[in-house]
Amino acid sequence: MNWREDLKEIRTELDNSNITDAAALEAFRIKFLGSKNIFKPVFEQMKQVPAEEKKEFGQKINELKNRAEEVFQLAASAHTVGKATEIPDLSLPATPGTIGSRHPISLVMDKIVGIFEKIGFQVAEEREIEDDWHNFTALNTPDDHPARDMQDTFYLQGRSDRVLRTHTSSVQARIMTTHAPPIRILAPGRVFRNETISARSHCQFHQVEGLYIDKGVSMADLKQTLLFFAREMFGPSVKIRLRPSYFPFTEPSAEMDIYWGLKDETDHRITKGTGWLEILGCGMVDPAVLKNCGLDPEVYSGFAFGMGIERQAMLLYKIPDIRYYFENDLRFLRQFKSA
Ligand code: DAH
Repeated sequence: MNWREDLKEIRTELDNSNITDAAALEAFRIKFLGSKNIFKPVFEQMKQVPAEEKKEFGQKINELKNRAEEVFQLAASAHTVGKATEIPDLSLPATPGTIGSRHPISLVMDKIVGIFEKIGFQVAEEREIEDDWHNFTALNTPDDHPARDMQDTFYLQGRSDRVLRTHTSSVQARIMTTHAPPIRILAPGRVFRNETISARSHCQFHQVEGLYIDKGVSMADLKQTLLFFAREMFGPSVKIRLRPSYFPFTEPSAEMDIYWGLKDETDHRITKGTGWLEILGCGMVDPAVLKNCGLDPEVYSGFAFGMGIERQAMLLYKIPDIRYYFENDLRFLRQFKSA
């Protein structure tokens, strides 16, 4: 028995191995690293190896095993790298990219902005995290005012003076304190209220606010402006009505309804069976608000209005549930086209 000869033979085989493809790699693995590998029969000679050679025998066989492992790893990685760098077939047709569509809320907001831009309103965008003063106090709604209960407010954690704005009316205060009249702005944006989510209401939604301040602005200007808007938005034959209402920041105040009709089931549900739909609140800016924002109510007057977007989009696109807007389900979103 000559273990040295046996190991030398294995060494030669190892050095001569030529791993060119996956099959050769597998054959190598079975031969040198598998459960019946080439080292096993040699190892079984251990008992016959003289005691003083045992240590050397063990070392040599381990060296060879490690070498086999190394050769295998090297060949395996070369093999996969080779695969990854294969040049793709450039003549294949490309996978077409999917074109995005615009969110229905954006479509309706843009339409509203476009209508008011025609009559000289400019877009003013402002912050969603507001301070208490701009969201409430400046708008004639001090701390203890019962109207604060009209809107369930989200406060920032640990900050009783910072809120997620409950309406875009906060932009009125931002603009009136920083710009001189004439002011004619439109403020589209997202608002937040701590409301239970259902098919008809959500804790986040969108509004567009309008504000017009100048010398001699009257209620007649407000009505004419809103009628123009309704006709552009819903068609020339649309009917509107103004109902007296209450808001802390306007006096007098009104709510505007449009007559949408009762053509199908969605119309019935959305208009609660009346055919009329309330779409906005409005009124003449309360003199106290002008004063709070540093404008002289003896010199200036103005009107303001604020409308929700979600319900108008529900009408226009026959969307039965407000939650669809915020779920990002592509099957819903893909139905809306960009143009
Ligand atoms: N801010 C009111 C709301 O969120 C809507 C509104 C009513 C805005 C009357 C106005 C207004 O500018 O004059 O319910």
